[in-house]
Amino acid sequence: MSHILVAVAWPYANGSLHLGHLAGAYLPADIFARYHRLVGNDVLMVSGSDAHGTPITVRAETESTTPEAIVDRFHPEFLGYWRDLGISFDLFTVTNNQNHADVTQDVFLRLLEQGFLVKKTSDQFYDPAAERFLPDRYVEGTCPHCGYEHARGDQCDNCGRTLDPTDLVDPRSKFTGVTPEIRATEHFYLTLSTLEPAIKEYLDSRVGWRNHVLNWAKGFVGEGLHDRAITRDMEWGVPVPVDDLGPGKRIYVWFDAVIGYLSAAKEWASIQGTPDAWKAWWEDPEARSYYFVGKDNIPFHAVIWPAMLIGYGGLNLPTDVPANQYVTFKGQQASKSRGVGASINDYLEWLEPDALRYAMAANLPEQSDTDLTDEDLVRRINEELVANWGNLVNRVTSLIARNFDATIPSPGRFEPLDEETLAGARDSLDAVSQQIENVNLRAGLRAAMESAASVNAYLSHTEPWKVVKEDRDRAATILFVAINAVASINVALAPYLPHTSERVAVDLGLGEVSWKAPDIVPGTVLAKPNPLFQKAELPE
Ligand code: MF3
Ligand code: ZN
Repeated sequence: MSHILVAVAWPYANGSLHLGHLAGAYLPADIFARYHRLVGNDVLMVSGSDAHGTPITVRAETESTTPEAIVDRFHPEFLGYWRDLGISFDLFTVTNNQNHADVTQDVFLRLLEQGFLVKKTSDQFYDPAAERFLPDRYVEGTCPHCGYEHARGDQCDNCGRTLDPTDLVDPRSKFTGVTPEIRATEHFYLTLSTLEPAIKEYLDSRVGWRNHVLNWAKGFVGEGLHDRAITRDMEWGVPVPVDDLGPGKRIYVWFDAVIGYLSAAKEWASIQGTPDAWKAWWEDPEARSYYFVGKDNIPFHAVIWPAMLIGYGGLNLPTDVPANQYVTFKGQQASKSRGVGASINDYLEWLEPDALRYAMAANLPEQSDTDLTDEDLVRRINEELVANWGNLVNRVTSLIARNFDATIPSPGRFEPLDEETLAGARDSLDAVSQQIENVNLRAGLRAAMESAASVNAYLSHTEPWKVVKEDRDRAATILFVAINAVASINVALAPYLPHTSERVAVDLGLGEVSWKAPDIVPGTVLAKPNPLFQKAELPE
């Protein structure tokens, strides 16, 4: 048994989430976590609402309300998605609570003590009309690296590089549109320059990472790491635990957000009543940690967070950062901040949770950007999920209901094709397992579905509905084989389709599902057959 930390990107609580977020982080994390629980590993899956930073304050100002009010609106909405979709967090918390502030300040103080935080005076943008500094998203301009004209002060959405506001060419204030002026201000900086050799060594020792992630991270470090400001001129955020800077400064959102993985693990342990339990995932070198994030988060998870952990000392660095590329809808990047793409709730009103999970899992952007339309989702659901898996379950249970009084029949002698079919379904568990272990979740789903297709082919070939009229014993054997295969494939699909998988297990009279071929007992009475999924239809 291993300890597996499933760390999932913290969404800014400044707007609804859409399918791009689901496919980029939450669904893959959940599939991976559920698989490891079925295997018997000890999984801790944490995340929460990212409550700080200019994404939250900009929205609060637009609506003339407080940052807290914004977080208090969207955090419960996020919890609703996870409940409805079955995204099985052990804890989904917030970054604006006391525990998180305490843990963040502890990390800050330790890094300061070890000499990895230094004070520097630097030039920052100031809006003379609004009379305030312009951190991060309060400035927009042209990216100095790729020339993208709508880069934000914290990051360029086009090339993914992290930025400082003063890097921007042709900067504009978000408040007033004026060209900001430069003023000196003092901040704490993380000394990435001195941590760079250790980061390089860490990245060089990574095996099995997705190429696009490792290449991006190595390229970023290869350009030379500069010390990064980890405080801001703001009133909203975790307070700086030393008073060197004077008032009006807070810890930078990205510095505190990544610490959320650690603070959430500690919060979870306290809630369990075992305050030290977090250590099994963070201090035991045998424990593994997987960070599920979108590709725009690669610099912070593959480089900066490891740098912070190295500086802190004694805590596990990420085992893997299986970052995903973007899901685009009809060619436009589904971006919350730009309001493109419908929210998860819009889709949950339309599709059953497992149908939505299936269509997204089949399209995970693991290796490249993936363009989707509603028509693609409908096709995946109807032509694959309903026509293959839903049909197989329904066919087998209906045949047993109709011909054997809904009771699993005892098999006779197995023919080679029967043996092959039984072994094939059992082997599919290993095939899926191998893919999920390597975080190839899309391929894992494909393997399970191929196995279902071959059992459908077995039925079409053996035709038990005809055979039963002349040779009941032979039909009994075929259906016994088929229901065994269904039970195994149902386990392979459980990480992907948790709601319907549980239903199938109950209908087949099986106990709790674990990652092995279930024992099918002849004589078990099946529940009344009932289609697993409805056909999806495009909304009018
Ligand atoms: N809130 C950030 C975003 O939406 C992601 C933060 S992930 C973190 O891009 F945990 F590392 F902070
Ligand atoms: Zn750029």
